[in-house]
Amino acid sequence: MPERLAEMLLDLWTPLIILWITLPPCIYMAPMNQSQVLMSGSPLELNSLGEEQRILNRSKRGWVWNQMFVLEEFSGPEPILVGRLHTDLDPGSKKIKYILSGDGAGTIFQINDVTGDIHAIKRLDREEKAEYTLTAQAVDWETSKPLEPPSEFIIKVQDINDNAPEFLNGPYHATVPEMSILGTSVTNVTATDADDPVYGNSAKLVYSILEGQPYFSIEPETAIIKTALPNMDREAKEEYLVVIQAKDMGGHSGGLSGTTTLTVTLTDVNDNPPKFAQSLYHFSVPEDVVLGTAIGRVKANDQDIGENAQSSYDIIDGDGTALFEITSDAQAQDGIIRLRKPLDFETKKSYTLKVEAANIHIDPRFSGRGPFKDTATVKIVVEDADEPPVFSSPTYLLEVHENAALNSVIGQVTARDPDITSSPIRFSIDRHTDLERQFNINADDGKITLATPLDRELSVWHNITIIATEIRNHSQISRVPVAIKVLDVNDNAPEFASEYEAFLCENGKPGQVIQTVSAMDKDDPKNGHYFLYSLLPEMVNNPNFTIKKNEDNSLSILAKHNGFNRQKQEVYLLPIIISDSGNPPLSSTSTLTIRVCGCSNDGVVQSCNVEAYVLPIGLSMGALIAILACIILLFVIVVLFVTLRRHKNEPLIIKDDEDVRENIIRYDDEGGGEEDTEAFDIATLQNPDGINGFLPHYRRGLLGGISQDAV
Ligand SMILES: *[C@@H]1O[C@H](CO)[C@@H](O)[C@H](O)[C@H]1NC(C)=O
Ligand SMILES: *[C@@H]1O[C@H](CO)[C@@H](O)[C@H](O)[C@H]1NC(C)=O
Repeated sequence: MPERLAEMLLDLWTPLIILWITLPPCIYMAPMNQSQVLMSGSPLELNSLGEEQRILNRSKRGWVWNQMFVLEEFSGPEPILVGRLHTDLDPGSKKIKYILSGDGAGTIFQINDVTGDIHAIKRLDREEKAEYTLTAQAVDWETSKPLEPPSEFIIKVQDINDNAPEFLNGPYHATVPEMSILGTSVTNVTATDADDPVYGNSAKLVYSILEGQPYFSIEPETAIIKTALPNMDREAKEEYLVVIQAKDMGGHSGGLSGTTTLTVTLTDVNDNPPKFAQSLYHFSVPEDVVLGTAIGRVKANDQDIGENAQSSYDIIDGDGTALFEITSDAQAQDGIIRLRKPLDFETKKSYTLKVEAANIHIDPRFSGRGPFKDTATVKIVVEDADEPPVFSSPTYLLEVHENAALNSVIGQVTARDPDITSSPIRFSIDRHTDLERQFNINADDGKITLATPLDRELSVWHNITIIATEIRNHSQISRVPVAIKVLDVNDNAPEFASEYEAFLCENGKPGQVIQTVSAMDKDDPKNGHYFLYSLLPEMVNNPNFTIKKNEDNSLSILAKHNGFNRQKQEVYLLPIIISDSGNPPLSSTSTLTIRVCGCSNDGVVQSCNVEAYVLPIGLSMGALIAILACIILLFVIVVLFVTLRRHKNEPLIIKDDEDVRENIIRYDDEGGGEEDTEAFDIATLQNPDGINGFLPHYRRGLLGGISQDAV
């Protein structure tokens, strides 16, 4: 039993490997090791190198003793001793061998397999790899059989301040509006330090400004850059270079540092008004300049930029406000003075304008500083120009009666030279506008006369162009349109609007309207047409027809009685006098042809001639003649047959048509033989009356038999 217990205890104790911490030969690392150990809550006493010490409190070794520390960047003549493996296993006669495996075993960390000393044989860099996980094992020297299970431990690389802070995103650019108040935040920057941020001050950074004072300041810890002067003026200095330093070790001497640059650009605000470069501008302009032409430019300078420099220009006063206008050219930021109404040197020779330039986008913060506008005076001198003649009117409208006499004056145009020299003027007609040479003009006084007769019914308007030329300078030419309207004269008589043909029904009633006619007149009287109709004086008491004027200027022709008969008179001619209301009136006589026709009871005309003339069927005359011809032909043939038959006393049909004959034979039993057949006359069938004497007398008996049967 005690043996069992001892075995159990041994089982518990055997996996033990005691790790001895080596003290690195670096003085300032000592407190770090100590703190590390204390942090682990270990009861370990620190020993000088090589001095062994048993750890009595085994229950804590699992989390205390499974790590070693080694300082990074150590470079001495000898490999640095990191620690020692030791097992308290009683090897007895066996010799123990220590084996190391895992991260860097053999390459970075070497173990003395007899003593268990672990050395780092390479320089370590915490920033590259901060800890290594290794496995230690004690084996039998001879058999290499494990004497206990493997035990895992960690070698931690201890930080030293071997990395300077770095500004990874630099150099920086930032903007801040000019005229900002003191302490306006501009931007912030960030430096990074690769050293261990949780251990020591190697990564504890403090920021400061090396260059750029007194304009900017930086908050040491947050690295927020602020303006350090109020009202910095972009127009004075636009760009600032700030050099920023980040220092580790909390900024203490001995720390490492890195710098970066920050370029701060002041952005514009509208803190400057526009200012005219000159207070007085002089321009001169010829009086004949085209409307809208730019006469001159004025410019107010503004030290601001962009929209803060934009100004609008206005004419605010002066004696030429109605004639001139000013527009703002946003591109050039100046004002263009243009002509709005025609100038006349002879009327006024100079103008004075007061122009104003005003900022468009005003910053209310600065508007209290005074007006953001400026004014200047513009003097415009009008120069004399040789001007073309000026007609007394821009257009002329003339009226002339179409019967005007040749060479009579239709109208007159006048023009004058507006210049002081006042040249005489000659007039002419632009012949392109008067190809027929309908008109002439007096070159001196501009009177237009008629050259060839006019006809309103051919052309109402003659629109021509008159040219005025200065005698002293033939290049000074003006043109004016002259519209000549030809006025109507009653020179056309009215007549029927179309060729009318009237039909009168034989069975018509007295007072019935036979036809309605209307008249037309080529003239165009002002108040429209009014026609008068009448019968010839000798026809006024016509017993057959009468006329009646309708409201709409047309005329109805009425029958006075019934009983018209085409046998008696087929056609009546009725002359009608049509007169217009001109002064003097014109008239003409047109004759209406009235045909007498046969009509149906409801008055539809059916035939108008003595010969058959069937209108409603719509057959053509040719077709009617053809039908008539056929009927006559048929009639002639029948007559011819009958005549022949009488002469020869022979049956009409003697052809030996057997079928017909047989039928007939069966029909009459009493008859017989060839004679019977021969004796039958088909004409009896064609004319069943049998009384018109066409039948031969010797066949009557037979026929009588049939008749008796039938009766
Ligand atoms: C001529 O001018 C008049 C008045 O301007 C116009 O009414 C008419 O249509 C013109 N006639 C022709 C043929 O151009
Ligand atoms: C009137 O008609 C009759 C026949 O119906 C004719 O004889 C006579 O001449 C006509 N009168 C006139 C004026 O046409």
